[in-house]
Amino acid sequence: MRNIAVAGTGYVGLSTGTCFADMGNNVTCIDISEEKIAMLQRGEAPIYEPGLNEMIVRNMKAGRLHFTTSYDEALKDVEFIFICVGTPSGVDGEADLQYVRMAAESVAHAMTHPLIVINKSTVPVGTGDWVADIVRRSQPEPMDFAVVSCPEFTREGSALYDFMNPDRVVIGSRSPEAAEKVAQLHLPLRTRIIMTDLRTAEMIKYASNAFLATKISFINEIAVICEKLGADVQEVAEGMGFDRRIGAQFLNAGLGYGGSCFPKDVKALEHMALVHGSHPALLRAVIDINRDMRRWAVYNLRELLGGKLDGKRIGLMGLAFKPNTDDIREAPALEIAHMLRNEGAHVSGYDPVAMKNVARVDNQMRLSEDAYDLADGADALLVCTEWNEFKQLDLPRLRSLMGNALIVDGRNIYDPAIMAHHGFVYRAVGRAQAGNNGN
Ligand code: UDX
Repeated sequence: MRNIAVAGTGYVGLSTGTCFADMGNNVTCIDISEEKIAMLQRGEAPIYEPGLNEMIVRNMKAGRLHFTTSYDEALKDVEFIFICVGTPSGVDGEADLQYVRMAAESVAHAMTHPLIVINKSTVPVGTGDWVADIVRRSQPEPMDFAVVSCPEFTREGSALYDFMNPDRVVIGSRSPEAAEKVAQLHLPLRTRIIMTDLRTAEMIKYASNAFLATKISFINEIAVICEKLGADVQEVAEGMGFDRRIGAQFLNAGLGYGGSCFPKDVKALEHMALVHGSHPALLRAVIDINRDMRRWAVYNLRELLGGKLDGKRIGLMGLAFKPNTDDIREAPALEIAHMLRNEGAHVSGYDPVAMKNVARVDNQMRLSEDAYDLADGADALLVCTEWNEFKQLDLPRLRSLMGNALIVDGRNIYDPAIMAHHGFVYRAVGRAQAGNNGN
């Protein structure tokens, strides 16, 4: 059992803190938001992550998980503090480090004994050294500490599983003793532990995310070529994926990546490269292709609706950036809604869990009760998120509710032949078209 503090109760901080508590450690999570901490103290997770709420309550009851807004209280007896605060995109695509700075200063003021400060937030290469500098300069009296980089690789929607079953744990530090202690903390996970220097660990995180984003943009580019040449991208991806050098994952063509990590991290890496005088041509192409996939949806809807979106009613199926999360950051649905409205369309949406978040940021979106309510009277539907509940819809019922029965499937969840059989005009990403152009 170790005493651990975690700064930041977003997706990363909460899943990290709760998982370490579940492994038998004593964990205190800190956040500057009193509202979030009050919710957590009542046993309510402020975010939707499958299994998280139950795990929080279980560990609170066992006395291993605590929440506070006070660094003084949280750091009293701890050996480790994980920094898991947000690093949003700044105006130029650079990572905005104001929350990391605040956390580092708070740690420096509150520490009363030697500490290991572990950076889990995705931060530009070199930030570990910068954090060490801030802590050193902000300490009222000099006190020993070490900075370690231990990037997270968990996906929203399966954060708990990913945390407990990682492919690897990366630990970077200038201090071999601190790195060893952080490695010990991860031993129960029985996984490969990669020890590096600070900057290399930080770069492994960016390079991993940029590579996965590249895989997605690559298959999306292939998809668009498939459409022109009459090939099927799903089968192409399957045929490629069996090659172990390529791998089957992250080859799903669609409306592109969104969420809190890929868009921000690829832009931040591009920015770091530019600032240091290199020419990140591949990263730029990845970003461009991703943007183009949002346009792909608008282009296809416009074409199927007779060349004009003005006055058309379009229903968006799924609003979260991916299934099993209520996160709408950089969600394709919201960007596409904006583009459709610019051309005069009326946009409604339905999502099983993200609608509360959507209502907060987009007051023009009409929200529906379910997929059938969304289809009722719609001129076209666009699948934006591949929620399971969309995969087995009652297609004849859906068809009967729609005038035109046009579906653009931005996540390739339906079988073109079945859709044609039920009388839909159906378009998917990188697949043969079924039916004729509508309208
Ligand atoms: C990602 C990384 O996977 C994780 O390691 C990192 O720590 C945080 O960022 P996350 O953003 O939660 O996790 O989601 P992920 O499941 O990786 O999907 C990212 C985006 O890519 C989603 O918008 C998803 O829809 C899209 N995607 C993914 C595709 O378009 N095609 C694919 O084949 C896979």
